[in-house]
Amino acid sequence: MKAYSFRQSKKLWREASEWIAGGTQGTRQPLYPEYPTYFARAKGCRMWDVDDNEFIDLLCSIGPIILGYAYKRVDDAAVAIIRDSFQSSSNHPIQLELARLLVEMVPCAERVRFLKTGTEATLAAARLARCVTGRVPIARHGYHGWADIWKHAEGFPEGQGGVHQAAGEVVHQFGGTAEGLEQLFKKSRQKFAAVILCPADTRPFTPENYQGIIDVAHQHGALVIFDEVKTGFRVALGGAQELLGVTPDLTTLSKGMANGYPLSAIVGKAAYMERMSETPTAGTFSVEALSIAAAVATLKELKEKRVVDHLFKVGQRLIDGLNSICLNHDMEEPKAYPAPVPSMPRFTWHPNEGNRCDHPAHQHFFSQCLRYGLFFCPWHVAFVNYSHKNRDIDECLEICDFVMGKTRRTWKRSRVQRMS
Ligand SMILES: Cc1ncc(COP(=O)(O)O)c(C=O)c1O
Repeated sequence: MKAYSFRQSKKLWREASEWIAGGTQGTRQPLYPEYPTYFARAKGCRMWDVDDNEFIDLLCSIGPIILGYAYKRVDDAAVAIIRDSFQSSSNHPIQLELARLLVEMVPCAERVRFLKTGTEATLAAARLARCVTGRVPIARHGYHGWADIWKHAEGFPEGQGGVHQAAGEVVHQFGGTAEGLEQLFKKSRQKFAAVILCPADTRPFTPENYQGIIDVAHQHGALVIFDEVKTGFRVALGGAQELLGVTPDLTTLSKGMANGYPLSAIVGKAAYMERMSETPTAGTFSVEALSIAAAVATLKELKEKRVVDHLFKVGQRLIDGLNSICLNHDMEEPKAYPAPVPSMPRFTWHPNEGNRCDHPAHQHFFSQCLRYGLFFCPWHVAFVNYSHKNRDIDECLEICDFVMGKTRRTWKRSRVQRMS
């Protein structure tokens, strides 16, 4: 296998610091500064950079690309609405079509509101819960975006990064179990407005744990928000709540909904959602219909093609293949597993340690994948899409096998050097 050259990308990366603040859009890109892929085009499960290097993509834009890049049915729907314009100062009828689809798919959805990003949706959900309950504190578990109220609870020290302390002081981590939540309620003795959790981060991923959390929250008068920005449409059409058979009060959705077009939603029980009109959550682009047209086409395709089943199959093929590669190369530490389901596979030298990725062999493996044509993220779960077919996964595994050979040699050599 031949290593890629990143000449054009490196040139852009050097120039970028003159024009772009910090040189990047803040999405933790490039994955590796020495291989700064500047994306030029993409189709299906593959992308090409400005040096015309071809990559099989296992990050899928950190989740949104659920059908595949430049997916015809979705882009046709977007182009059709572009011709008649998609942004105005009034509502568009296509909002109703998408709202109906979401109510049909997502168990807790009786009413719907559209926003643009996941962070906006989680903020709106928190604000709505405060409006409904008249209380302020929130218990949380998982990643919910970059707003002050979520960042403080992630442990940003006083003053760091401009994060406003007071906004987050009433947001508390609870550890993701019913027992953890009960303990937090007892310890803090405050009345909580809501419990928000991300099902990709909350373990154990069982109906008992999730129902337990809902029961404890409700006993204490708090609403339950499932942040399904990542898990929506990937874990099941109706998200983790459908797979687990549990029903939260509110849910936030985004990534898988519009195959990459920027859209999020807050959905939930009618009695609570009707209070949205009392909370200030309107935005200039809230009526934008391009991404809504894309979402209607995406959700119809997800349903008609049984996309989630496909994602589980190809994701499991990747997981099994990676574990076999580790076995064949006599590498005991790295593991591949569903996180929490096969459509979101994780491969890591740090099993069950979240996004930790500092193991030198882990860094070596993922950086070399990029050099040989696999866009595989070291610090995040992987995502597969409907355009990954078995042969694409097998090609990913060929690259991983080759790279694992290199990693094993490098890693074993460095271990011998450390011991001598
Ligand atoms: C569960 C969850 N909630 C919220 C967000 C924030 O979404 P955005 O990056 O669109 O603001 C993310 C993003 O990764 C997420 O995974």
